[in-house]
Amino acid sequence: MATWSNFNLQNSASPLMEQIIFFHDHTLIILIMITILVGYLMINLFFNKYINRFLLDGQMIELIWTIIPTITLIFIALPSLRLLYLLDELNNPLITLKSIGHQWYWSYEYSDFNDVSFDSYMINYNKSDINNFRLLDVDNRIILPMNNQIRIMVTATDVIHSWTIPSLGVKIDANPGRLNQTNLFINRPGIFFGQCSEICGANHGFMPIMIESISIKN
Ligand code: CUA
Repeated sequence: MATWSNFNLQNSASPLMEQIIFFHDHTLIILIMITILVGYLMINLFFNKYINRFLLDGQMIELIWTIIPTITLIFIALPSLRLLYLLDELNNPLITLKSIGHQWYWSYEYSDFNDVSFDSYMINYNKSDINNFRLLDVDNRIILPMNNQIRIMVTATDVIHSWTIPSLGVKIDANPGRLNQTNLFINRPGIFFGQCSEICGANHGFMPIMIESISIKN
């Protein structure tokens, strides 16, 4: 979960989030290389005499500084596309969870079972309870089996919300009148937190998501 002074991404709890972190690190390395190169060139400008009688054009340098950034972009674009298609793939899910965004709470439906649905509201912070998480705890948690493919259907009833869980690599908009689909694979037991990530109104920050990941035997 998110804790204080956490500068990096949260620890992953799903294979897809692991891939997202790998891609983030890969892209960051390329960014650092570009920054160092541009920084070096800019520092060099301080030592420029600003005069050169013979400098009118330079075909070769223009060719180089066009092609090198193109190749650099391909190194980002191809892994990015791979990740994009991986995130969209759904492999024979075990169960389906439907989450519906409201102003300002989520409600859930387990469509595989007969009439299992509930609302999930944020609860008050209780200092004396160590298992109570400020602004993240809800009255009714989602309970999902770990190590299984789960399908998520997302929609909303009023405005656009976004069903987002950083540690599971899920971020999908909940639109009124539309049904979006994504997938989930939790690879360990635990509690995973999320928040709405679409500016949906005055109390946007107070519609958390809480997933309890348990063994399928339970
Ligand atoms: Cu719902 Cu922001």
